[in-house]
Amino acid sequence: MKRTKVRDILSGENTDYDVVVKGWVRSFRNNQFIALNDGSCMATIQVVIGLDTDEAILKRITTGASLSVKGKVIASLGRGQKFEISAESFEILGDCDNEKYPLQLKNRPSLEYLREIAHLRFRTNTFGAVFRVRHTLAFAVHKFFNDRGFVYLHTPIITASDAEGAGEMFHVSTLSPENPPKLENGGIDYAQDFFGRCTNLTVSGQLEAELGAMALSEVYTFGPTFRAENSNTPRHLAEFWMIEPEVAFNDIYDNMDLAEDFIRYVIGYTLEHCKEDIEFLAQRLADEEKQKPTADRSELGLKEKLEFVMNNKFERITYTDAINILLESPAYKKKKFQYEVKWGIDLQSEHERYLVEKHFKKPVIVTGYPKDIKAFYMRMNDDGKTVAAMDILAPGIGEIVGGSQREERLDKLVQRMEEMHIPTDEMYWYLDTRKFGTVPHAGFGLGFERMVLFVTGMTNIRDVIPFPRTPKNAEF
Ligand code: 4AD
Ligand code: MG
Repeated sequence: MKRTKVRDILSGENTDYDVVVKGWVRSFRNNQFIALNDGSCMATIQVVIGLDTDEAILKRITTGASLSVKGKVIASLGRGQKFEISAESFEILGDCDNEKYPLQLKNRPSLEYLREIAHLRFRTNTFGAVFRVRHTLAFAVHKFFNDRGFVYLHTPIITASDAEGAGEMFHVSTLSPENPPKLENGGIDYAQDFFGRCTNLTVSGQLEAELGAMALSEVYTFGPTFRAENSNTPRHLAEFWMIEPEVAFNDIYDNMDLAEDFIRYVIGYTLEHCKEDIEFLAQRLADEEKQKPTADRSELGLKEKLEFVMNNKFERITYTDAINILLESPAYKKKKFQYEVKWGIDLQSEHERYLVEKHFKKPVIVTGYPKDIKAFYMRMNDDGKTVAAMDILAPGIGEIVGGSQREERLDKLVQRMEEMHIPTDEMYWYLDTRKFGTVPHAGFGLGFERMVLFVTGMTNIRDVIPFPRTPKNAEF
């Protein structure tokens, strides 16, 4: 007989039919009632086994053990569940030694502890919910773009360019690290390396996405991105996933509209398709909030926050407005900010959070950043000082999206690249798009894990990617 998923049984209406279910024991009580979970949903199904079960077998039904159960789905006699399975027979697929099993679900393990056993944490309710939500968000991303006629473009993971110009790259090389071939001047001879040049893991698929957009009009990438920035924060990963749409003929305003529609859509889709998981995560967050001092508690619960974002337009301000708001703020006047505030600074996390959480109390799109703190490809505004950049700041997260209208004017782009020491000869392919039928275009990058953080209400980015890669950590 084929296996039936717990989710299908629990979401159905029927009773009195035979099934085979397989899963892991979450709990076992009174030598009779097994709560079995197979990950297809948050809930467990109650399996009722015969009172005549052998003593030696009963001992092997422990938390974490895996079972295959054959039986009948019946209306549950007990409270708390609609259906249960009356077992005709069952088989223990894998024993679980509870003396050594690091997951004792009775006392809720801390998230820090679970990070150390990330290979097993999928088995907890919290991580089951987080990774089902993550999956649903990823699916919603593809659905959003597919429904709008975008082409999913797979941009390379290994590249020779540094799209963001920040120099935060992991090198990719097959040369011997101890004894690489040398040039006469002592430098490494990358001509002898695998690709015949110095290569690295990509920090963004944008530049290649732009090439695609110059023919396909609307493309997006959704892939892994690597940054060797030494930021040990709850918002940074060395390996994260980024979604980057790139659209020909769009200006910065179209870009903002697209980003807002996109964020609302994926949240809405997930609220609709992950009700039970979001419900659970909302309760988890509410419990966590109760531990905090009253002043630090957030005003909205998880679901209310998500619904609020769905139903309200994002605030749109310029960078110059943002700086003025910060300078006028009580926080600034009371010297609460750690970092300096003046026109020209890169907004720090504390500034972003003040704008979003204290001042506007909703997501904010900031445009018109000073050219000196942004990448070379952003379109120069007429003032010659600011560029057509846009960052979206979200409550509890800070920057969730970074994007811009691109510089489509060849002379201005070359000038900017020269000023910023970006090699124009090596990047001839990028400049070619500006020579052959250039058009205004725009795009953005959304950090997928930051989106998952936002939707799950989790607070550390290490808890929303299965196996986090952070400075000094590449376990599992
Ligand atoms: O603002 P960023 O650096 O923008 C780009 O890479 C552009 N090329 C995007 C584009 O226009 N196509 O990164 C985009 C987003 C950030 O807003 C943030 O959400 C996320 O990527 N991000 C990170 N997420 C996790 N860990 C990190 N180290 C991240 N760095 C950026
Ligand atoms: Mg950015």
